[in-house]
Amino acid sequence: MKHHILVTGGTGYIGSHTAVELIEEGFRVTIIDDLSNSEIGVLEGIEAITGVRPEFEKMNICDQEKLFSMLREKQDFDAIIHFAAHKSVPESVQQPLKYYRNNLTSLMNLLAGMEKHRIPCIVFSSSCTVYGQPDVLPVTEKSPIQPAASPYGNTKRIAEEIISDSVVASSFIKGISLRYFNPIGAHQSALIGELPLGVPDNLVPYITQTGIGIRPLLRVFGNDYNTPDGTPIRDYLHVVDLARAHVMAIDRLLNDRQKKRYEVFNLGIGKGVSVLEMIQSFERVSGQKLNHEIHDRRPGDIEKIWADTSYANTELGWRAERSIDDAVLSAWNWEQYYRKHISGRS
Ligand code: UD1
Repeated sequence: MKHHILVTGGTGYIGSHTAVELIEEGFRVTIIDDLSNSEIGVLEGIEAITGVRPEFEKMNICDQEKLFSMLREKQDFDAIIHFAAHKSVPESVQQPLKYYRNNLTSLMNLLAGMEKHRIPCIVFSSSCTVYGQPDVLPVTEKSPIQPAASPYGNTKRIAEEIISDSVVASSFIKGISLRYFNPIGAHQSALIGELPLGVPDNLVPYITQTGIGIRPLLRVFGNDYNTPDGTPIRDYLHVVDLARAHVMAIDRLLNDRQKKRYEVFNLGIGKGVSVLEMIQSFERVSGQKLNHEIHDRRPGDIEKIWADTSYANTELGWRAERSIDDAVLSAWNWEQYYRKHISGRS
């Protein structure tokens, strides 16, 4: 029988790509999402790619009663992958309670639901934001956790602790937190991808929206950092590689291959890339110049970070396989497809 996976936030960016990889590996997938930052049409994209339309419930999991009644009705989840969360750093600074309430209540409801309905496995969507600006690069899972630079970042750190404590207290729950570096790109079919609401905060959607003419120019936030070209460095990884890591984490949990009942993995390409190098990548793959100018630094940005991924390589058997150019090209293909075929469709 197929293992049944509940994917919260499954119509979102990383959730939808993970749903595709799960279905293609033979899992049964149920998505819950409140559609506050995603579109129902994403289900069509998933179906067009896989030939399977995932089961779907529109729900905010902060509503414990609704969540529990769904878990009671379905009864047969083997694992949960928890993506559903607010994710804008600047918004979290403006409205911290919105972030703490939503991102932590939803997780606590899920964990309580797992205990009540004996769902044994959870994979959590965490972030390299928990490392802040590390003193030593690359960062391993043992690098020190730093005070969070934003309420959003803090919810990731606290959520990891809540899961870890819940695993200790439970007789059967096991968990894995995946600390993503910077996910970019889209499915190779261009049928699903990132859908930022309004003006994007993140670099790659801003680049592709500038490339297609929705934004007049990309502001490069600072070129006076202590990096080879002066612009900040990040570890950008293809969202499909990231999605595959979730399938491997689920597989590890379901087949009892963990070293500990709660584990943490860094997921990145293991290589730092600057903002100017990202622009060059876009220009290479799109064959067009990108209008950009140097601007002041963005408050709260760190200078450089990239991952040591050896733990994921050896323990999960995972490695990022796709290049930066592949990822940027897929984001560009998706931007063009979306503007031509999907945007504006009701
Ligand atoms: C941000 C969040 C991080 C979150 C991640 C999700 C902050 C401080 N951190 O990371 O917590 O997990 O998104 O992917 O916001 N840049 C420009 N011009 C732009 C946009 C970005 O130059 O218009 C630069 C930024 O200065 C940065 C790099 O591009 O150096 C990447 O930025 P972004 O995509 O926002 O990701 P992070 O800041 O790394």
